[in-house]
Amino acid sequence: MSFRYYYADRVREKMPEYRGTDEELQDAIDDLSLLYQSAIREVETKLQILSDDFDKKHSYMPIHHVHSRLKTIESIMEKAVRYGIEDPINNIDQIKREIMDIAGVRVVCNYEEDLRTMARLLIDQEDISFIREKDYTNNPKPSGYRSLHVVIAVPVYLVNRKKMVPVEVQFRSIAMDAWASLEHELRYKNKGKLSQDIVDTLKECAETLHNVDERLSHIRHKVLNDESEYSNY
Ligand code: GTP
Ligand code: MG
Repeated sequence: MSFRYYYADRVREKMPEYRGTDEELQDAIDDLSLLYQSAIREVETKLQILSDDFDKKHSYMPIHHVHSRLKTIESIMEKAVRYGIEDPINNIDQIKREIMDIAGVRVVCNYEEDLRTMARLLIDQEDISFIREKDYTNNPKPSGYRSLHVVIAVPVYLVNRKKMVPVEVQFRSIAMDAWASLEHELRYKNKGKLSQDIVDTLKECAETLHNVDERLSHIRHKVLNDESEYSNY
């Protein structure tokens, strides 16, 4: 994926304070894009391999689907300002150190218990370094949001250097993902503001879906046990 001749013009328009030339700005953006897009690819490949091996060993694929995104340069700059990074476009190195979700990979799993399993299998790999984790699965956010967020760094080998690049990986069940996508869309449509009544109802929906996740896990275990009992005969 290349942002050449696309972002620099727009960023230049929005960020006239950039002190270098247009070419330097383009180069800095290309550099960011190459690094973080490569890191996303590495994580996707690792997940694909884990999923294939799971299928081979257990005839079961824990991952329903994976969705990745590279944060746009505009949204990186907005977040940098929110994080108190002064003059962000001239401080891209500080952005790289402080903003951990430039590369984002969302792993949607079939069952709630798969989230922890998949996160562990990724974090425990030798070439991955663990940065931090936020577990909103048992402690949902006030909105009702549930998910397991892990920030890891993966090695990206370029022609003359190796960089450890952070990637935010969000592990969600199908139900958690459905809720988060709809809630996000509703919030976005209403420019971030939802009435208390709607906020409360959404939270109730999140709890209902959590209950559904637990019941589905329960059914799954029951089916697995019945299957193994059956296979004893
Ligand atoms: P950001 O500055 O937004 O990245 O917050 P943070 O650095 O504290 O990260 P955190 O791990 O709390 O969550 C950030 C990401 O989780 C967001 O970009 C969303 O993808 C997701 N998220 C967190 N809270 C909610 C929520 O209430 N609703 C939805 N739909 N998504 C959420
Ligand atoms: Mg974020």
